[in-house]
Amino acid sequence: MTYREVLENARKTILNCKACPECNGLGCGNTLPGPGSKAPGNGAHDNWSAWKRIRLNFDTFVEDGPVDTGCELFGRRFSLPLMSGPIGSMTQYSKEDVTVPFNDGVMEGTARTGTIDCFGDGVVPETLIGALESMKKHHPAAIPVFNPMPNASIMKKMDLFEESDALAMCVVVDSAGLSHWKHIGDQPGTKTITDLKELKAHTNKPFLVKGIMTAKGALQAVEAGADGIIVSNHGGRALADVPGTAEVLPEIVKAVNKETKIIVDGGIRHGVDMVKAIALGADGVLICRPFAVAWFGGGAEGVKTYIELLKNEFSEAMYMVGARKITDLNPEMVRL
Ligand SMILES: Cc1cc2nc3c(=O)[nH]c(=O)nc-3n(C[C@H](O)[C@H](O)[C@H](O)COP(=O)(O)O)c2cc1C
Repeated sequence: MTYREVLENARKTILNCKACPECNGLGCGNTLPGPGSKAPGNGAHDNWSAWKRIRLNFDTFVEDGPVDTGCELFGRRFSLPLMSGPIGSMTQYSKEDVTVPFNDGVMEGTARTGTIDCFGDGVVPETLIGALESMKKHHPAAIPVFNPMPNASIMKKMDLFEESDALAMCVVVDSAGLSHWKHIGDQPGTKTITDLKELKAHTNKPFLVKGIMTAKGALQAVEAGADGIIVSNHGGRALADVPGTAEVLPEIVKAVNKETKIIVDGGIRHGVDMVKAIALGADGVLICRPFAVAWFGGGAEGVKTYIELLKNEFSEAMYMVGARKITDLNPEMVRL
């Protein structure tokens, strides 16, 4: 299955998304509910453009040799520094709720390619129950991502995964700004450092905080004991007119000074974007919307096709900037 076929197939069934050849936030604009950004709808595109403004520097005066895209994250080895992004409810893309089969397909695809799957807690209990079943079936390196409901509710959900082989636990703090949550009973809200410390203390697994956009926020997550942060603005879905994630990454990397792992998301679509992110100091990247398209276009096979495409692109781009392994990537390889 080629990626072109994946896109063509996806267009037959996916709703609110045009499965564009380049997922740059222009086709979906402010389609919400749906995969778009909060009004006026520029957030996803701003993220994408911020990566495009960064350029890569050729370096072919290095010893020749094969490229190794492998990495270590949270104590395990992976073939790529890549996570699929959580989508709590696939009703954004479909009349029927296909969240459980979607998570199953992405877990299978990420497990088959040696990458990481993040999944959302969604709005119905079946989502997490289904995810647990899929984890037993496919043994992915999976990370549940919990919305910022009251801590007692998050801790109950964490308990479901404590005995599983989940790679880490994550709470997404910027979901506090999602307007389409407002009709749901258990309301999300902002978190204090004390709240995060309580959640961190509740698990023996690495604890991640998703939705960090400032050096100050990153340092607060570090203070709360986060083993990793995800630099993210929720794909522009929580607030418009925020910077692109690529714009804030360097200052966050500097402030954090290696005290916690840094993953970044938002408009990362190709291997070249992955090279830019890692060269600027991220330990890994997360990609979300294209995984929905890949799954609609070919289930687990579509997901695998997309990841293999990314891996080829990433490997070729590493080669041309003079990197043979992930740890060779450094800021001199990019031009801001
Ligand atoms: C339809 C949709 C649903 C999402 N649901 C969640 C969610 O439940 N939890 C979460 O942490 N992020 C959620 N996100 C945000 C993504 O995980 C990711 O942070 C964001 O889309 C940026 O990545 P991208 O530009 O690669 O899509 C959702 C995004 C979309 C488009």
